[in-house]
Amino acid sequence: MSRIQSQVRGTGGYLPERILTNDELSKFVDTSDEWIVQRTGITQRHIAAQGELTSDLALKASQNALENAGLTPEDIDLIVVATTTPDRTFPATAAILQNKLGMRHGVAFDIQAVCSGFVFGVATADSYIRSGMARRALVVGAETASRILDWSDRTTCVLFGDGAGAMILEATEVADDAPEKGVLACSLRTDGGHWDKLYVDGGVSSTRSIGHLRMEGREVFKHAVGMISDVVEDVLEKSGKTTGDLDWFVPHQANRRIIDGAGRKLGVPEAKVIVTVDRHANTSAASVPLALAEASADGRIKSGQLVMIEAMGGGFTWGACLLRW
Ligand code: UT7
Repeated sequence: MSRIQSQVRGTGGYLPERILTNDELSKFVDTSDEWIVQRTGITQRHIAAQGELTSDLALKASQNALENAGLTPEDIDLIVVATTTPDRTFPATAAILQNKLGMRHGVAFDIQAVCSGFVFGVATADSYIRSGMARRALVVGAETASRILDWSDRTTCVLFGDGAGAMILEATEVADDAPEKGVLACSLRTDGGHWDKLYVDGGVSSTRSIGHLRMEGREVFKHAVGMISDVVEDVLEKSGKTTGDLDWFVPHQANRRIIDGAGRKLGVPEAKVIVTVDRHANTSAASVPLALAEASADGRIKSGQLVMIEAMGGGFTWGACLLRW
């Protein structure tokens, strides 16, 4: 007997050229480099240029991932874009990306799970692949968070940045007793009872406008570590692994203190944690694939290693996936 595994073929990332430092921010909002670094670990973030859209960032990350995988858009039959900042209300940014990639075949759609979007996207693509509905999936997390920030609100505008990351998952048919590879297990959760702790105060149906990101930071912080540990432990149990088996922990990059807290609670040594929040800030759905692309490109994540990804965000949504690279 055989089974289908979703294996990682490649990763890619893209960050807009413009870097906005904490010191620059402190010139137009009442904050300081010291406060931001101490409370979040963030020193800078990238900001998309005028006219540079979420689909443009997604395109560059996707091209980077395709090159890394040695594939072309012809080889892809599923595109999942996780974003909270789509180019337009519709069509899906995934459809716009598909067109920019010069593709006319396959299926493309967006996923809206805010910061957890990429993890939800990996779990969705894995299900498509394992059920035979797709052969090669391009999963993208792409955000222009700068477009929904209230730049006069110091409690939120210092925390986010723009960017995109992508991963290609490929169906491989293997014997039942073949060694595990690719996506091993996922755990996803949502609790809409917390929607008003992290949201945008506008929308098509409610205000006919875009709105601005609003957050009760302390409330989100309070729930983050527990929710992250909950899904990571669930994934470990499902796959018969322990924290000690992990080679890398690639958490959502929202706040260095949350990353450290989750690492401590789960017992993951700091040397096994991939951190980009210091240079990227919180890029929402793009944060995990950007971190994966960086750590894979610089040789830290190697073939055969066990990698845990996780994220938590608006909704609340939270999730984790375990991958054998
Ligand atoms: O992807 C998931 C989405 N988001 C997150 O995961 C974020 C979760 N939350 C957090 O990361 C943290 O709660 C924050 C970084 C947002 C805030 O850190 P905190 O240690 O929870 O600070 P706080 O909200 O308790 O605020 C402490 C003080 C307040 O002043 P008072 O009331 O003590 O006088 C704030 O007004 O810091 C003040 N403050 C600032 N001061 C300088 C808030 N923002 C700033 C700022 N610069 N940018």
